[in-house]
Amino acid sequence: MARQDLSTLPRNLNPQQLPTHIAVIMDGNGRWATRQGLPRFVGHRQGAKSLKELLRCCKDWGISTLTAYAFSTENWRRPAEEVHFLMGLFEQLLRHELAEMRQEGVRISFIGDLSDLSPSLQREMHRSMRETAHNQAVRFNVAVNYGGRAELVNACRQLAEHVQQGTLMPSEINAAVFEQQLYTAGSSDPDLLIRTSGEMRLSNYLLWQMAYTELYFTDVLFPDFDRAALHQALLHYQGRERRFGKISREEAALLA
Ligand code: IPE
Ligand code: IPE
Ligand code: MG
Repeated sequence: MARQDLSTLPRNLNPQQLPTHIAVIMDGNGRWATRQGLPRFVGHRQGAKSLKELLRCCKDWGISTLTAYAFSTENWRRPAEEVHFLMGLFEQLLRHELAEMRQEGVRISFIGDLSDLSPSLQREMHRSMRETAHNQAVRFNVAVNYGGRAELVNACRQLAEHVQQGTLMPSEINAAVFEQQLYTAGSSDPDLLIRTSGEMRLSNYLLWQMAYTELYFTDVLFPDFDRAALHQALLHYQGRERRFGKISREEAALLA
């Protein structure tokens, strides 16, 4: 099974300083299509191709996790036909891409409240998670019916139930215990968030997990987001100094 292919990593990127985990808000599919006089769904289809390419790039360059926002808890407010199209697209993609994901070593997971999705989509989701559970080349998390606030409220409710059952003391609740109740329990926080289409907001994405994530916004619309666009995002990322509350390395050197 092919693992990485660092030969395609642009030379001005430092392979030692790549993010381990990228989160992406795939935005601008609709505008991409509308600008060309095409119906919005064409943009979603094209966005799916960009996502596939992005995942391949992550795998090639040794970026071990990609977490993509596919459908938010707020996206149910869209026209019914668009919601219907998106749900159908997710199901179709899972059916068509599963064999290749298995072959490429992709381990897929879903985050969000899957219980509101159609039984046939849920079946495909569980099947793809089960059949790729042992893969190790790249982790691919897809957020569907995901909302950061719902995730946090849900975590609180579960902790409250443990307390009520007498299996947890309120004083035992800390960040690590809290995190265990999130959809993302056990996985690292994103190092880099990429949002396409020029919008500069989080739209309820990974609110807990992105406490220290580097944020990168680009005007590129998601259907146009390619290797070159990822390269730009990574260059920006490598230009950042992640301080996590400390003083900068330069300042620290002056004090030494
Ligand atoms: C993101 O593209 C895809 C989903 C939310 C599913 P949009 O559909 O939000 O595209 P714009 O923002 O309308 O252009
Ligand atoms: C965020 O994009 C959700 C996804 C990409 C799935 P939206 O296009 O729905 O975000 P808003 O509504 O502009 O904030
Ligand atoms: Mg949008």
